[in-house]
Amino acid sequence: MALPPGFAQEGTTMSHSPSTKRAVAVAAASLTALALSGTAVQAAAPDPTLRSEAPRDLKIGSAVWGQRDLLDHDRKNPTEFQQILAAEFDSLTPENDMKWAEIHPEPDVYDFSGADALMEFAQANGQEVRGHTLLWHSQNPDWVTEAAETWTCDEARDVLEDHVRTVVGRYAGDIYEWDVANELIQDEWDAGGVQLRTEANPFLKSCSEDPVGLIGDVFRWTHEEDPDSVLFLNDYNAEGINAKTDAYYALAQELLADGVPLHGFGAQGHLSLQYGFDESMQANFERFADLGLKVAVTEADVRMPLGEDGEPTPEQIALQAERYDKMLQACLNVASCTSFTVWGFDDGRSWVPDVFPEGYATIMTEDYEKKPAYDVLLEGLTDATPGKSPRTPPGLNT
Ligand code: XIL
Repeated sequence: MALPPGFAQEGTTMSHSPSTKRAVAVAAASLTALALSGTAVQAAAPDPTLRSEAPRDLKIGSAVWGQRDLLDHDRKNPTEFQQILAAEFDSLTPENDMKWAEIHPEPDVYDFSGADALMEFAQANGQEVRGHTLLWHSQNPDWVTEAAETWTCDEARDVLEDHVRTVVGRYAGDIYEWDVANELIQDEWDAGGVQLRTEANPFLKSCSEDPVGLIGDVFRWTHEEDPDSVLFLNDYNAEGINAKTDAYYALAQELLADGVPLHGFGAQGHLSLQYGFDESMQANFERFADLGLKVAVTEADVRMPLGEDGEPTPEQIALQAERYDKMLQACLNVASCTSFTVWGFDDGRSWVPDVFPEGYATIMTEDYEKKPAYDVLLEGLTDATPGKSPRTPPGLNT
């Protein structure tokens, strides 16, 4: 798989330092000099990246917030963050840009600026996009949560249908997977236990007599607008076999029996070292795959409580790598697993410290230094590529 255009390649290790461009320019100049002098040049193989090593058609993704990090994208002069995003990943998920509050802030106002920037970046770098998300209890604009107090089900349905058709229609053909419905089901520890989030979700609340009917319609509208997109249910605490994923399994069966175009089940993969790893992740993926669904790891990160110095211990660093590896292996071992996405790749942009008293959750430090977690992912992908021929930069064969 070729690296995206414009990404620097040099030596055997990828440097993310500001001097990268200069170093590449020097390397290119010496190659030219050697070529001019008639010496046979065996070009160094480009450095492997997550996307270059991915086996079969598995997509390797990262979340990115277009509004924050891509509006300034200049193809000829990408930031270091943008260079890494382009080099390492062939799938992007809008971290916030397609959520209701951002894309539909007022009843008659859509703001596509962040999402458009993300789509353009993806196209410039040969990346695909996972849409996120159309039906969720969180990050809804005030006008939605306020209106939900008085909406009839028909009114809520109309607003939801208009939103889905507008957003999905705009990007139809360019989004290979959609997290249509996000976090629909509560956890065992929530008040009321494992059940649909009918109270918290403004649309389900307005249609509480038949919430599953409404969920099915959201999938139908999405499918009508973008027939080629693979449509997912997505949630956290959905890695292993547990009461919540049992409820998803039942919901998926019900939707499929109703002829709903449901195509996939996504486990977000937001883990914390405070808790163990559920070794039934692969078996969980397999049971959804057996229903005929695709599966995906959609938002992987592995956070941890940090000491007063804000630093992880060597044990935590090693355990984090192991957890990332386990999630990747669960995906690699199930043929229906289509994508493995990390929820941001650098600690400097991670959502974790804003929400949890934890940190160090991503695969690179805030200075883009690769952690052991990055190395195990790269290794896991490389090992999963049987018989892959050595990569040779296009046009530089001797
Ligand atoms: C998070 C974003 O990363 C934050 O920037 C935002 O403030 C809150 O939402 N599950 C999801 C994601 O499905 O959309 C959430 O993203 C993280 C949890």
